[in-house]
Amino acid sequence: MYAYNPLLLRIGVPGLLLYTRARQLRHVAKDPSNITFFTHTRAAITLLAERLMRHLTPKVLSNSQVSDRYFEMDFEWPHNAPPPSPGSFFTVRVSESEIPLLRRPFAFSGFSRGNSTASMLYERRGTATRQLTTRSPGETIDILAPLGVPFPLPRSETLPVLIAGGIGMGPIFYLAAELHSSGQEAVLIVGARTAGIVPDRTEFQLVETILATDDGSAGCHGTVTDALQNRPDLLDRRLEYFACGPLPMLRAVHQHAKARNECCWVSVEQTMGCAVGACMGCAVRVRGPAEYARVCTEGPVFDSEEIVWT
Ligand SMILES: Cc1cc2nc3c(=O)[nH]c(=O)nc-3n(C[C@H](O)[C@H](O)[C@H](O)COP(=O)(O)OP(=O)(O)OC[C@H]3O[C@@H](n4cnc5c(N)ncnc54)[C@H](O)[C@@H]3O)c2cc1C
Ligand code: FES
Repeated sequence: MYAYNPLLLRIGVPGLLLYTRARQLRHVAKDPSNITFFTHTRAAITLLAERLMRHLTPKVLSNSQVSDRYFEMDFEWPHNAPPPSPGSFFTVRVSESEIPLLRRPFAFSGFSRGNSTASMLYERRGTATRQLTTRSPGETIDILAPLGVPFPLPRSETLPVLIAGGIGMGPIFYLAAELHSSGQEAVLIVGARTAGIVPDRTEFQLVETILATDDGSAGCHGTVTDALQNRPDLLDRRLEYFACGPLPMLRAVHQHAKARNECCWVSVEQTMGCAVGACMGCAVRVRGPAEYARVCTEGPVFDSEEIVWT
């Protein structure tokens, strides 16, 4: 069985150990008494990461609350590490203790080559993100990066429409900044339940930004696709969509693009186990013979046509 897995041919013995453990992970994940199993799995992931990607311990430069729900952390980016791209992500080992045991995935919300800094925009949700909010400048964080398939470059004949919702805001803000710095015109649409959630960002000055809120407290009263429908001037043009956010939003953007026969890229958020392609914990249904794709290695960015939307 192992001999036919091309990933395993690349990753060798640590990968084989991880693969074996990760396959068992699905069965033991619900049992908190399996702490030794999890500890060994985490060690195997770190060993594998040292072979395949960068295991980095950058210094935190700043970490502060930027809106009612979101925090942003800036951290040093080592000169010898490959620069991250919008849509790629990293995993953080938040604690030396057993809780939380698994690394948590986060997208890059910005990167500066000049200053060698990277950023993450994150929502305080549970154990890991609560602990992240307590990190102070000067402390280090333990990350594996860069991971995943980033957003592609927009096609030359299209206007990129960048659509962000919830925890999907970070990678879309980073994409907006990158497109601006390469001289590419783009439109940014940010969807949120209410205005207080949305951080004040420099990207809003760099590219045309449309805000859509569920409660009408700012911008368009409605969803991101309602905001698009209110802009016939945009709809007259050939658009290409780059979206990250909750599944219902991604589905709606996909349906909108499909109805117009336009290309749509979605960055999918799935709860992850290993984040290196071994456990299938992050699998999504896709069209074609493979039936499933791993969000951590074949994604998180997919052509929305590939996904089986349920
Ligand atoms: C590729 C990728 C990129 C991500 N980028 C970001 C980011 O830039 N900013 C950010 O704030 N979060 C991001 N996330 C989600 C982030 O990983 C989770 O919010 C985090 O793991 C929660 O950990 P916790 O221990 O604080 O909360 P937990 O106690 O583990 O969970 C708290 C709540 O968050 C939900 N949750 C946990 N993981 C996810 C997930 N992956 N997707 C959706 N809901 C989840 C749980 O269902 C639960 O309701 C990303 C996830 C993926 C897969
Ligand atoms: S999280 Fe294990 S395969 Fe993606």
